[in-house]
Amino acid sequence: MKLTPDQIATFETEGYLFLPNVFSADEMALLTGELPGIFAQNRPEVIREKGSNAPRSAFYVQTWNEVFGMVARHPRLVEPGVQLLGSDKLYMHQFKINAKAAFDGAVWQWHQDYATWFNDDDMPTPRAMNIALFLAEANEFNGPLMFIPRSHRLGRLEAGHDVTTTSYPLWTIDNDTIQRLVEQGGIVAPKGPPGSMLLFHGNLVHASGSNLTPWSRWILYLSLNHCDNAIRRFKRATWIANRDFTPIDMLPDDCLLAYARAHRGAAA
Ligand code: SIN
Ligand code: MN
Repeated sequence: MKLTPDQIATFETEGYLFLPNVFSADEMALLTGELPGIFAQNRPEVIREKGSNAPRSAFYVQTWNEVFGMVARHPRLVEPGVQLLGSDKLYMHQFKINAKAAFDGAVWQWHQDYATWFNDDDMPTPRAMNIALFLAEANEFNGPLMFIPRSHRLGRLEAGHDVTTTSYPLWTIDNDTIQRLVEQGGIVAPKGPPGSMLLFHGNLVHASGSNLTPWSRWILYLSLNHCDNAIRRFKRATWIANRDFTPIDMLPDDCLLAYARAHRGAAA
């Protein structure tokens, strides 16, 4: 899937790009059909919310689930990263499904991903980004991602290591800074149906609130990095900060439906 020059310009100016309805209902049915089994697994890569058994994130799923193994190599997800990062030698720095579970999904504090990639993993430069795929609807109630548009232009901001608020340690930005940034840029929260994509810069400031609704807000994230910008510190487990820097080899665009036809006899 090729982005248009206008879409590339929007990403560069705003720091994000929302693309509704990129994957079909049949493709999404294949993906979401895997989720209960993934979140039910008792393994280190599936982390739970603090003080509850609700799933928070499932990491490195591309290595232990065949369907998500294809998703990690899907051209509709990877090709926009190739275009925006300007290289066809990209590897998967991180691959996770955030559950933001109905009633139990907890916050993600305001942060830039590059702050964590820099401070924890010693990633040399912010030439890395996120490609998100909505696996469920994200609406105004169920804790959608919130962005401060254009904040990526400020570079890496001062951050503190938050190891207490949630079950997942994160380098977060203080409230005074967020107030100042929001006065300048406001807040947006792109919302849409499953199958929508959200692309955002490694330095874009973002957060999400808790989910008090009966609607889980599942989002898949591919964090893509230049192979020549690989991390240099291996403090975090490889399933959180991948040490396999092999370039992603994309699959054909119809790989999911072909798999569904071959394995499930699903309508496709
Ligand atoms: C993240 O910032 O990495 C995740 C935020 C979210 O899924 O709400
Ligand atoms: Mn983040």
